Amino acid sequence: MEKFVIRGGKPLHGEVTISGAKNAAVAIVAATILCDEPCVLENVPDISDIAICMKILRSMGAVVNPVTKNTYYFDTRSIREPKVPYELARSMRASTYFLGTLLGRFHDAYVAMPGGCDLGDRPIDQHLKAFCSLGAQYELENGEVHCYADGLIGSQIYFDINTVGGTINAIMASVKAKGLTIIENAAKEPHIVDLANFLNSMGADIRGAGTDVIKIRGVERLKGITYGIIPDQIEAGTYMVAAAATRGHVVIKNVIPKHLESITAKLRKCGVTVIENDESVIVSASGDLLTTNLKTMPHPGFPTDMQPQFSTMLTLAEGTSIITDDIFDNRFKYVSELRRMGADISVDGTVAVIRGKGMLQGAPVVASDLRAGAALIIAGLAAEGVTEVDNIHFVERGYECIDKKLQGLGADIKRVAAPDTNHMRMSG
Ligand code: EPZ
Repeated sequence: MEKFVIRGGKPLHGEVTISGAKNAAVAIVAATILCDEPCVLENVPDISDIAICMKILRSMGAVVNPVTKNTYYFDTRSIREPKVPYELARSMRASTYFLGTLLGRFHDAYVAMPGGCDLGDRPIDQHLKAFCSLGAQYELENGEVHCYADGLIGSQIYFDINTVGGTINAIMASVKAKGLTIIENAAKEPHIVDLANFLNSMGADIRGAGTDVIKIRGVERLKGITYGIIPDQIEAGTYMVAAAATRGHVVIKNVIPKHLESITAKLRKCGVTVIENDESVIVSASGDLLTTNLKTMPHPGFPTDMQPQFSTMLTLAEGTSIITDDIFDNRFKYVSELRRMGADISVDGTVAVIRGKGMLQGAPVVASDLRAGAALIIAGLAAEGVTEVDNIHFVERGYECIDKKLQGLGADIKRVAAPDTNHMRMSG
């Protein structure tokens, strides 16, 4: 186990380059199963969730070879058995995408019930509803979901709730189904558009991705291509908030500013300067941060994956800010750790009331999930004194080389070995 040791109070200065989008890459890597020829993916983030996706493909017999640090060659034609190893599948949420792609190609799929960040109950009923709409059936067999079908027929899929994963799985299961599939109440996140662009580049016929109605006409074959994954909206937002929280001046490169609009708007409301260029944003904050109220929404609203980071910044704005995040049952687990650093936050269900005092003190804290870990790192960068963030394996699921990138911005952050004692603390 490892932890980060951060000496805070230093404004971040300099340039940072954003990596490929985790939540696009996990879907697109799984979607290579649908490709009838080899393909090459560029701008693949070097993070542990992607490493697991590649391990899953290799375990099924696919060829996955590095070309460069962030470019990989995939040939999935040699996959024979549509079954994901149990322990790999249960280690992350994105393993559900192998249900959609294996079902889409083999009309058969065995994938363990997914794991992933503990944000409360995270069922997959909408994913299964989509598969059944296409003519599939499923059983739960010893912790594994077994989906199967004689054939997949295009149909109308209406999601009861806004679901990113459900929309992604419905697209992947229907891209080779017979006939027309119409997905209603589809999620609109940038990573859904990126997946559709990847599949269309291979010869799929997907229209409307990025809107709440997506139409997919099934095709026979998908040809090999080389495709570059979009920059990570949430990684970029995390560095934007870190720059603001430390009162720094940071150029964030390799971004799509349109994907960051809700984050930019909120930062400006808090008195932060954000300049948008074609492929970069410049974030600077010198004066006091202002309070604001925040409600997370599906895209293009303020993303739930940015809530812990932004809430942490608001503890540094003197006054009261109210945060509502009802996309998940419980995305405030990090609050108890921020209280160790002097934050005054009360949580009632999906609402948090922050009484910002303008400062935090360094303390030993423990990450409970990926974005909570990012939030605690931001807290440590802004706090007076030394902060130790443990359980950084959560952070490495979704942030490529975060310590090196922060060191490049002048942060005093070191990676050190940590005794494995925290599971006891976190299970209290
Ligand atoms: C994706 O999770 C992301 N993960 C999450 O990012 C992100 O927070 C979330 O979308 C929302 O944007 C990946 O892309 C790998 P949902 P997903 O289906 O697909 C409920 C991160 O930090 N729901 O949109 O699981 C669900 O419980 C991670 O990068 C059902 O009830 O999110 C949740 O309350 C964390 N039934 C809500 O819908 C279903 O069948 C939204 O979930 C599916 C979802």
